[in-house]
Amino acid sequence: MKVLVTGAAGMLGREVVRQLADSGEHVRAHDRVRPDGLVADETLLGDLREPASIEPLVDGVDAVVHAAALPAPTMGIPDEVFTINVEGTWRVLDAAARAGVRRLVYVSSLSALGLAWSRVDRSPTGIPVTEEHPYLAEDVYGLSKRVGELIAETTARKYAGDGMSVVSLRFPFIGSGARLREHLDWVHRDPGNDRAGLWAWLHTADAARAVLAALDRAPAGHHLVNVTAPDTTSLRPTRELLRRYHPDTPVTGAPEGFGTPYSLSRSRELLGFTAAERWRHVPDSEGTSTP
Ligand SMILES: NC(=O)c1ccc[n+]([C@@H]2O[C@H](COP(=O)([O-])OP(=O)(O)OC[C@H]3O[C@@H](n4cnc5c(N)ncnc54)[C@H](O)[C@@H]3O)[C@@H](O)[C@H]2O)c1
Repeated sequence: MKVLVTGAAGMLGREVVRQLADSGEHVRAHDRVRPDGLVADETLLGDLREPASIEPLVDGVDAVVHAAALPAPTMGIPDEVFTINVEGTWRVLDAAARAGVRRLVYVSSLSALGLAWSRVDRSPTGIPVTEEHPYLAEDVYGLSKRVGELIAETTARKYAGDGMSVVSLRFPFIGSGARLREHLDWVHRDPGNDRAGLWAWLHTADAARAVLAALDRAPAGHHLVNVTAPDTTSLRPTRELLRRYHPDTPVTGAPEGFGTPYSLSRSRELLGFTAAERWRHVPDSEGTSTP
């Protein structure tokens, strides 16, 4: 299978390229910055804001993983975040579909719910947080990822008769190594720091595995899928965190122990995916560890 990966020089894109190449797929990597040291079969440079550059990207590929984005509202002025994330997604997905590609994975974010970057303290409307949770965003990044999901859904509907499969993966904070360690320290210093992220996390290697599972397993249609690690980043049990930081949120079937407040049944059932990486398994002197 020949796969286009956008955002290939980025944190997640790199790992997706590596895992696809390890699986024997032919990888076409795309980014606006040169992805040094990448194992891709083809590397194309260009900016998704240039419409004329899009069609050659999707020419002759069997699948597309669209990971390119500005991954936070703080990464640019709001207009740039909106334009790159929304227009970029429209251009890549629409051009791919027109070129006959029938397997698309859109890398979305749990920020599409609107909790993560809100200026005021918001709480989820219920636990576990499913893919049907209402949209509450007021920030441009959450908006851009939600619109990206709607573009994915629209593309799947438009080409439904041709067996189109589009998966929008809602990821939480992604990281490994020093980035993950820093995030864990931030949460452990004060669990309230990540009340809006609901203490969810995903190792970069697992995020890439979820992308490969989506390419491999997803049936026709559009599928919006939460993907997080099964546990939280916190040293405090999840029920205690929810009682303290989201006291008005109804909890049904609350996660046991350190379980994530997000519903992962769709990722298990549809993609056969469960994150493998853990940070608690080899405790250090503070009772924590980083893979
Ligand atoms: N980092 C996280 O914790 C996180 C969490 C949830 C979802 N996501 C999503 O995962 C995806 C990848 O995020 P990441 O953390 O790897 O980000 P990253 O910034 O490391 O990688 C994004 C890549 O996109 C490229 N890019 C940006 N604008 C472009 C443009 N106009 N044209 C071409 N390429 C462009 C960048 O050069 C970069 O290499 C994004 O879609 C992001 O929204 C990230």
